[in-house]
Amino acid sequence: MQSNAIHFTNQKNHNIHLYVCKDYDTISKKAAGLVSGMVNVKPDCILGLATGSSPIGMYEKLAELYRDGITDYSKVTTFNLDEYCALPEDNDQSYHYFMREHLFAHINVPAENIHIPSGCAQDVETECRNYDAAIAAAGGIDIQVLGIGSNGHIGFNEPADAFIGSTHLVKLKDSTIKANARFFQSEADVPRQAISMGIGSIMAAKKILLIAHGANKAKAIAATLE
Ligand code: F6R
Repeated sequence: MQSNAIHFTNQKNHNIHLYVCKDYDTISKKAAGLVSGMVNVKPDCILGLATGSSPIGMYEKLAELYRDGITDYSKVTTFNLDEYCALPEDNDQSYHYFMREHLFAHINVPAENIHIPSGCAQDVETECRNYDAAIAAAGGIDIQVLGIGSNGHIGFNEPADAFIGSTHLVKLKDSTIKANARFFQSEADVPRQAISMGIGSIMAAKKILLIAHGANKAKAIAATLE
């Protein structure tokens, strides 16, 4: 068996479908099937996308499905979860760069339909407000892809008792700066701020596809489900 499915309704009446897969390749295929299925049923759908290692396999499979002529992205619109502040889009650690490398260069989503918060915006407040307004004007996100940090963070929203709902400027915690330093030449190069969709903007998505892989995510997944 490739994956075990468990379906239930949580206390907030959300329908949860939990797929426990035997390995990362199976997770990636399952996730790609769910996203490409959405695009095939609703060609002008709104996809919410994430960076990080978790969705990379799924993006590879989506590119394959596009090459095989199975999925067409010509009417799709995308919104990414987050971006570092003050990193130019062509910096190889920017999320703009990541998305181009792993997905956008390999599918036919029109450039004008791609949205990623601009970490270099002069007026960050306005950038955040405009970002949420653009999501609302597009009709809301049909399926939001997420990863999760081993401490339970989503986007740049760290675990907390109260969350900021909308897209906002985040001052990165020292622990996040230290954790992300491995991707940069030195800790000093890690941006200190980021723009992130808030938990409210994320939970407003009609569907959420959260991809978690590896034993270090087990506690966060258990706590999320509970
Ligand atoms: C990605 C993002 C992050 C990651 C999380 C998990 O846009 O905002 O919250 O989803 O850090 O990262 P990986 O997938 O590398 O374990």
